[in-house]
Amino acid sequence: MDDLDTSRLDLERIPHHVGVIMDGNGRWAGDRGLERTAGHAAGEAALYDCALGALEIGLEWLTVFTFSTENWSRSAEEVQFLMLFNEDLLGRRRDDLHERGVRMFFAGDLDDPRIPQSNKDRMREAMELTSANRRLNLVFAFNYGGRSELVRAAREIAGLSATGEIIPEEVDADLMQAHLAVPDMPDADLIIRTSGEQRISNFLLWQSAYAEYVFPEILWPDFRQQDLVDCIAEYQSRKRRFGRA
Ligand code: FPP
Repeated sequence: MDDLDTSRLDLERIPHHVGVIMDGNGRWAGDRGLERTAGHAAGEAALYDCALGALEIGLEWLTVFTFSTENWSRSAEEVQFLMLFNEDLLGRRRDDLHERGVRMFFAGDLDDPRIPQSNKDRMREAMELTSANRRLNLVFAFNYGGRSELVRAAREIAGLSATGEIIPEEVDADLMQAHLAVPDMPDADLIIRTSGEQRISNFLLWQSAYAEYVFPEILWPDFRQQDLVDCIAEYQSRKRRFGRA
């Protein structure tokens, strides 16, 4: 990692939270005459490299979109690959990430009966094992959708109201935040979507209220920690206004 060039970065102003939509795996594989799943496998190497880069520059939160609630509509073969791959990845990377001080979190509907039980067990074990780590919070948005996250929060809050634990006037942004998948997750400062596509695709809807977006024209399997650093440098060059003039 000696070759990571951080000269364009202001290390005093690293964003707290970067979200990444890792797009372009299928196209990367297609360009090489490979199955789409080979693109996901190559994408995992990119993800690991970026996690190491995040640790190097002192990023606190990195959220990556690994499986969306809409991805169930892909072919059975691709869905099965991603399910097993998630489990396999935990087997290969969990202890290494734990030793590096990474807290792993899986945000999304983990109770979904379509997720294999063994995968659920591995995800819960990884969250438990790494729960006290704070060097980097690595959040896997897995079976995640921003709308379903908000619906779930609204349902829980409606339940509190129905039992008289709260009155409607007590519902505010802090209460919503407390019912999100990862309550201590700060707002996303920067969201990166690779492959040149410029959509939000139901990712971190609540947390991205004031996020800056960067859309590098790089297919995800080719993305490396240097690209992450370059995206953060681009973010640092912007003037954030939070609605002020
Ligand atoms: C989007 O590219 C990518 C995904 C749906 C999956 C991302 C997964 C990884 C990077 C690997 C790690 C995965 C797990 C489950 C831990 P796309 O397939 O939509 O690409 P395309 O737009 O070129 O077709």
